[in-house]
Amino acid sequence: MVGVSGASGTPYAASVLRGLLAAGLPVDLVVSRAARLTLLDETGIAWRDGAGAWPGALADWLGATLAGDRRPDRDQITARIAELARVHGADNLAAGPSSGSYPTRGMIVVPASTASIAGIALGLSKDLLQRAADVTLKEGRRLVVVPREMPFTGATLRHLVDLHAAGAVVAAASPGFYAGAVDAQALVDFVAGRVLDAAGVANTLFRRWTGELGAARADRPGLAQ
Ligand SMILES: Cc1cc2nc3c(=O)[nH]c(=O)nc-3n(C[C@H](O)[C@H](O)[C@H](O)COP(=O)(O)O)c2cc1C
Repeated sequence: MVGVSGASGTPYAASVLRGLLAAGLPVDLVVSRAARLTLLDETGIAWRDGAGAWPGALADWLGATLAGDRRPDRDQITARIAELARVHGADNLAAGPSSGSYPTRGMIVVPASTASIAGIALGLSKDLLQRAADVTLKEGRRLVVVPREMPFTGATLRHLVDLHAAGAVVAAASPGFYAGAVDAQALVDFVAGRVLDAAGVANTLFRRWTGELGAARADRPGLAQ
């Protein structure tokens, strides 16, 4: 289960979703009402829940580069969406993921707004995203939240501690620069790869640390050592 809330960072969500689909995992997706604004702002995609989102808008989103061009793997992504993805309306509290009896491995909230962090920490369940996260916690399944805000208020920090105490993994959208990234997509994929690691999903989205200082730079042709 993936929840996309209305924090900046829709490229992180796209990379996580591509990683889950590449791993052959079924994906239940909910995009909050506020996330429609960030998606429109960051990608130009006008998201509508239901038939309009799947597979068309989702394929447009996941199949585009940060610059808005067509990704070379777009056709494979589209095929995986058709096979594996299911979009649920944010207002549909009767959707499967509202119940603990609906089978999921866990949930990733990426990006996680401070509002969704508060709502999950307090158990508000104000929409399907928050309810599905609450269900994930109550069922003892893995919940990974990916906050994207700076600076944090004291309230958000307390909510994050509460989520950690409840068993969630707090995985900040905080790219590392040790993996040899030379562009923004590589930094996005680093975060997404570490988020998938936290969720227990095998991925090859970034270059892992090998124990050798400078190895990532050495792999980049033309870069001075
Ligand atoms: C363009 C845009 C960017 C935003 N960026 C952030 C952000 O980076 N982090 C955040 O916590 N909230 C951000 N917000 C505010 C949230 O969208 C707002 O708190 C909203 O109530 C979140 O609702 P949701 O948790 O149901 O998605 C942004 C809003 C807009 C319109």
